[in-house]
Amino acid sequence: MSERLIFGQVLGFAGDPFAEGPGAARHERRGAVLVRDGRIAAVGPADDLRAAHPGVAAVEYGEALICAGFVDAHAHYPQTAMIASWGKRLIDWLNSYTFPEEMKFGDPAYVAEIAARYFDLTLSNGTTTACSFCTIHPESVEAFFAEAQVRGVRAVAGKTCMDRNAPEGLRDTATRAYDESRALLEEWHGVDRLSYAITPRFSPTSTPEQLEALGALWAEHPDCPMQTHLSEQVDEVAWVAELFPDARDYLDTYERFGLLRPGGMYGHAIHLTARERARLTEVGAAVVHCPTSNTFIGSGLFDMAGLVRGGPRIGLATDTGGGSSFSMLRTMAAAYEIGQLNGAALHPAELLWLATQGSARALRMEDRIGNLAAGMEADLVVLDLASTPAIAQRAARAEDLWEAIFPTIMMGDDRAVQAVWVGGEPVAIPDG
Ligand code: GUN
Ligand code: ZN
Repeated sequence: MSERLIFGQVLGFAGDPFAEGPGAARHERRGAVLVRDGRIAAVGPADDLRAAHPGVAAVEYGEALICAGFVDAHAHYPQTAMIASWGKRLIDWLNSYTFPEEMKFGDPAYVAEIAARYFDLTLSNGTTTACSFCTIHPESVEAFFAEAQVRGVRAVAGKTCMDRNAPEGLRDTATRAYDESRALLEEWHGVDRLSYAITPRFSPTSTPEQLEALGALWAEHPDCPMQTHLSEQVDEVAWVAELFPDARDYLDTYERFGLLRPGGMYGHAIHLTARERARLTEVGAAVVHCPTSNTFIGSGLFDMAGLVRGGPRIGLATDTGGGSSFSMLRTMAAAYEIGQLNGAALHPAELLWLATQGSARALRMEDRIGNLAAGMEADLVVLDLASTPAIAQRAARAEDLWEAIFPTIMMGDDRAVQAVWVGGEPVAIPDG
């Protein structure tokens, strides 16, 4: 049995702060987390836990804040090396930067190098679960899962299927998409902490036959997540209407082929119709907010205020490399900024909840990850709330917990990530 008592400030959630307000958070100024065999066994006041478990080895983080590790609900690990590519909007950005980079992922040596680099970067930013698109190449999925498995992290990924409107070399067919996705799913789904996500890139790059084939695969494996993109840019929505003249709207291009059900994760979801919102909610699907991507690629303002109450599940994500950061702190800051422009001043409790429980709910994993509570898997991030002089001088004036945390949300980066625990063990964080 492996047991550790980890001391610091501790922050978890007893409920959803969007529904219950910031009081849904549970904070101990001098708290502790008891970790046993990869799971959280108890969370509470430091003195109580120490008294109840006198012999257990201690790890001391002092004033730092221990929370659940961040959950990035939508990323493209193959875009790691081309993040921050200048000057294009979605379709031109895909053609100019993304597709040429993704073309390289048939090379096992390159794929392994980028997969390792991706996990170095995300773990050093406190992300303990990522849900990533791969490329058309099965090797890209193998490398991602192999790397995640070695590191013991919970991870979700799938082969990105495309059979039209993409260059030669990045296209499969309906049959190959089904066969290769199924083989990968059977190899990896449910192994250790890994889950396979059925992954049509988006409607413009799949024929109806391919969408139908992947819908059939999902019907055979309904416990798998399914990830794709939805209504990111206005031009893209118009293009989808041309490509699918019979569809009622963008969401219907998925729905009519069996690609709308619980476990569906639809990235971006900015330019939605009333029908799309209602259907996503009714089905119990999730939309994934990717705020740094939405400003970087110039997509628009996600309607957090309109979607959050009584709407679909909402996850938060970096969308690297359309997104401009690997950091979920920076991503929370961008969500705050977009909220400010669009009628919702998100409270720090809501931002932290989105980056942990919100994304875990989008993945249907909220019973396992994304919260600091007994029974959860012990994936933790330890945040230094005074990691730079600018943050420290602001936090020094804080009159309550949220004022102490908000400067790190708005101005923090990987320097704020003092430690990361994965599956109950501390992770060596590479130097930046
Ligand atoms: N839509 C289809 N593919 C992509 C992608 O790789 N990134 C983003 N941001 N949007 C997409
Ligand atoms: Zn994406």
